[in-house]
Amino acid sequence: MNSQLKTKLITTEDGSHSLYVPHLNEHYHSTHGAIQESRHVYIDTGLNACKLEKINVLEIGFGTGLNTFLTLMESEKTNKVVKYTSLELYPLAIESAKQLNYAEQLTDKKRVTQFLDLHKAPWGKEVDITPNFSLCKIETDISNPNNLDTTVHYDVIYFDAFAPEKQPEMWTQQIFDKLFSLSNKNAIITTYCAKGVVRRMLQSAGYKMERLPGPPGKREILRGRKV
Ligand SMILES: C[S@@+](CC[C@H](N)C(=O)[O-])C[C@H]1O[C@@H](n2cnc3c(N)ncnc32)[C@H](O)[C@@H]1O
Repeated sequence: MNSQLKTKLITTEDGSHSLYVPHLNEHYHSTHGAIQESRHVYIDTGLNACKLEKINVLEIGFGTGLNTFLTLMESEKTNKVVKYTSLELYPLAIESAKQLNYAEQLTDKKRVTQFLDLHKAPWGKEVDITPNFSLCKIETDISNPNNLDTTVHYDVIYFDAFAPEKQPEMWTQQIFDKLFSLSNKNAIITTYCAKGVVRRMLQSAGYKMERLPGPPGKREILRGRKV
């Protein structure tokens, strides 16, 4: 792949934007609804299943920043403290981020600046975005599991890579083993992908796996827990 992905802005069925990557023939989110999917898979099934007051979140694939933005908003709603780390190899240009309608769809224009703050935040540095929410974006190639070495351990992991058919190098046993080793006790991992082969790899890594109902347009999703 090139160091910047060529993308095309699209509107999904719930009115929220997503991006299409022509050379992979792949979308960043479900075309049935980007916000709907992110909220269901990562916020409701992942973040809100964690009962801690202070939560370390790791996201695989910062992308449009939608999961990050929803997590920030949820941290305000629940008054939890979230330390959020997001990994990405192909950061979006700020011009592309400015086109995304998440702030307008979710709240009102006041949040536009806050959404863009997530994109403007420096790479490789932890910054406080709100009193409850800090963000550390790391520009790295996750297909090499050695790049996942970090001293931080996580309570919630959002595994949001492009589909295994499109990027098999992101869905390997070595990567899931590494994520398991970076998981705290009771940590949760969620992904929109419910493929048997993915579930079995997560299980071999050590997670106790559940198949749960998916968002509209998707029968099932996966959640794992390090028990
Ligand atoms: C499904 S999209 C993520 C959507 C994102 N979570 C969001 O809320 O918009 C997959 C992401 O993985 C990133 N990616 C692709 N290959 C990667 C790699 N080798 N290492 C790190 N990130 C990668 C893509 O650039 C893209 O942002």
